[in-house]
Amino acid sequence: MLSNLAVRDVETLVHPYTNLATFREQGPLVIERGEGIYVYDTAGKPYIEGLAGLWCTSLGFANAELVEAAREQMAKLPFSQIFAGRSHDPAIALGEKLKEIAPAAISKVFFCSSGSEANDTQVKLVWYMNNALGRPAKKKIISRIKAYHGVTIASASLTGLTANHADFDLPIANILHTACPHHYRFAEAGESEEAFATRLAAELEEMILREGPETVAAFIAEPVMGAGGVIVPPRTYFPKIQAVLERYDVMMIADEVICGFGRLGTLFGSTALDIRPDSISVAKALSSAYLPIGAVMIPERMYQAMLDESRKIGTFGHGYTYSGHPVAAAVALKTLEIYERDDIVGHAARVAVPFQRRLKALAEHPLIGEARGMGLVGALEIVADKASKAPYPTAKGVGARCTALALEEGLIVRNLGDSVALCPPLIITEAQVDDMFDRLTRALDGTRDWIAAG
Ligand SMILES: Cc1ncc(COP(=O)(O)O)c(C=O)c1O
Repeated sequence: MLSNLAVRDVETLVHPYTNLATFREQGPLVIERGEGIYVYDTAGKPYIEGLAGLWCTSLGFANAELVEAAREQMAKLPFSQIFAGRSHDPAIALGEKLKEIAPAAISKVFFCSSGSEANDTQVKLVWYMNNALGRPAKKKIISRIKAYHGVTIASASLTGLTANHADFDLPIANILHTACPHHYRFAEAGESEEAFATRLAAELEEMILREGPETVAAFIAEPVMGAGGVIVPPRTYFPKIQAVLERYDVMMIADEVICGFGRLGTLFGSTALDIRPDSISVAKALSSAYLPIGAVMIPERMYQAMLDESRKIGTFGHGYTYSGHPVAAAVALKTLEIYERDDIVGHAARVAVPFQRRLKALAEHPLIGEARGMGLVGALEIVADKASKAPYPTAKGVGARCTALALEEGLIVRNLGDSVALCPPLIITEAQVDDMFDRLTRALDGTRDWIAAG
């Protein structure tokens, strides 16, 4: 029996990433408020937010300083544009801060409101730059199978997941997908992580040569893949990939939308994975998700090309109404201040040790084929047979069953197929990590019993 609020929802909203058909019977879980790492539903039941919202609420819920930063800026100047040479202090200060902490030499910062917009902008800037540099054929962008880069037309094309392409008539032209660096699933029998990384770099090089290096402009990658199943590449994967890119003057774009701001125990994921990015996308934890804001960090070479195009065309014809939104920028600035002042990244690195210990221990659970992760993000892949790694039939919905049982235990996690993802707020304590894994273990045991009961 759906509650009144649930009935109104079903009759009104289109929910992203939801089976719209089955949802009509199930109805929504309506969340009312949050505090620390917990959220509460309309009946007052608390849940550990084990996915930090959507991999984003790093400072947890009800952070009074972020609320106050928003209130202050809202009262002072709730909106002002940065089109046509206008500006305001919060956007300037946030741009400066991002340049200061960036994991690469950054010339300028472009603001937007989401990860999808950031990656969409990356595609446009790469094309724009190569037109300015007089190499109009150099336009292809290589992404990876299972990558997640967003849902706008260009960013969904970069995404390497079939559900984001099927019947949306995607991907668009000039976007290619190379192999996914998931050793457990895609390595050949007996292939070491090192040999797997070498093979993937060779496959990338073959793709670039097949397409023609003069047509390949950029490579985009999340340091650790998120929505594709929390996939941590082999240690030497990115250095090998990067060597190939450098041979053919192919830009490296780091999508730091999940990994940025401490998730892997380093300020940026690029540092943890030995990536030397040319340009960088950020969003999510930039404001601890309290307000929507994203950014593209632009290298000098690209900026110079943008200057040339502006001289030629008369303007830089790209930007969003909410680019650099003053309230979002003020909240992001406060977020970065808190990360620094409270050593949130150091805290994440320390709590990551028991987090990874508990996560990896679940590899022994009879349902789990692989327990993988890095820093404060991880996933448990459920398999029907550990030896052959055979999955359960998709229609059985084992991953979904596990997350439903976790919900009963008061834990919000997300299943990506039959992989169950964890990505708690960075402020989580060691005791809360234990509580979270105790709840998850009960949900996994319940899933095992449900499977056994047929
Ligand atoms: C790595 C990565 N890039 C881009 C995006 C898209 O961000 P948004 O949903 O804010 O458009 C996401 C969202 O989950 C992401 O995980």
